[in-house]
Amino acid sequence: MHGVINMNVKEAFLSRRSVRRFLSKPVPKDKIKNILECSAFAPSGHNIQPWHVYVVEGKKKEAITNSILESIRDGSAKEFKQEFDYYPTEWFEPFISRRRAVGFELYKLLNIGREDFEARDKQMQENFHFFGAPLGMFITMDRRLATGTFMDVGMFIQSILVGARGEGLHSCGQVAFTKFHTLIADQLNFKENEMLVCGVSVGYEDTSAPENALRVEKLDYTDYTTFLSE
Ligand SMILES: Cc1cc2nc3c(=O)[nH]c(=O)nc-3n(C[C@H](O)[C@H](O)[C@H](O)COP(=O)(O)O)c2cc1C
Repeated sequence: MHGVINMNVKEAFLSRRSVRRFLSKPVPKDKIKNILECSAFAPSGHNIQPWHVYVVEGKKKEAITNSILESIRDGSAKEFKQEFDYYPTEWFEPFISRRRAVGFELYKLLNIGREDFEARDKQMQENFHFFGAPLGMFITMDRRLATGTFMDVGMFIQSILVGARGEGLHSCGQVAFTKFHTLIADQLNFKENEMLVCGVSVGYEDTSAPENALRVEKLDYTDYTTFLSE
């Protein structure tokens, strides 16, 4: 039987947001199973279903955190190359302002000053602690596929993020992990052509954490929609 996600779709969409501090409260296996079972219904061109998901907890999750932090400490991380560009090399409007607004709000909530690079760095490294979540996911695809496949994998990831809400869970997509793809490939025994697309932290929101008060500004649909009839 396929898992049933118990939430109105609109409610799930509207309550999904990136949570950056989780409780250590364990995530029940059946909730993860339901989310992944429902995510199987994500569309993909020619139904190629190009995704693979690794669910990590406990010692495996810790080993990934430790290997990443070690590479930052010993300086080897400086040599790591991204396998694909997620962000442009040069930012421009209107995107640069939207990007800055998120960083500005997040650091303001955390009381981290503009010039406090050490505190900013520490907060960035929280990514690799899965923001305290007891469970992480890594989503991969075969790198021999085409650029369009990122659409398929993106829709699959959104299904996980929205599906998590249906199970009373929160999440955060984390492209930050992709810089460390060689370390993660080793830890998870990737196949030869497997490419890390994104990490996702999943768990229960720590509602007392200041960073979780972040509410990013969303455009009104009329800002990005053009209705035409003649
Ligand atoms: C593919 C993807 C990768 C992301 N990577 C990170 C990340 O590495 N670290 C992080 O803190 N947030 C990450 N985010 C979260 C975005 O910053 C967030 O989605 C955006 O600011 C909008 O906020 P919202 O998710 O609360 O609507 C990522 C989001 C997506 C969709």
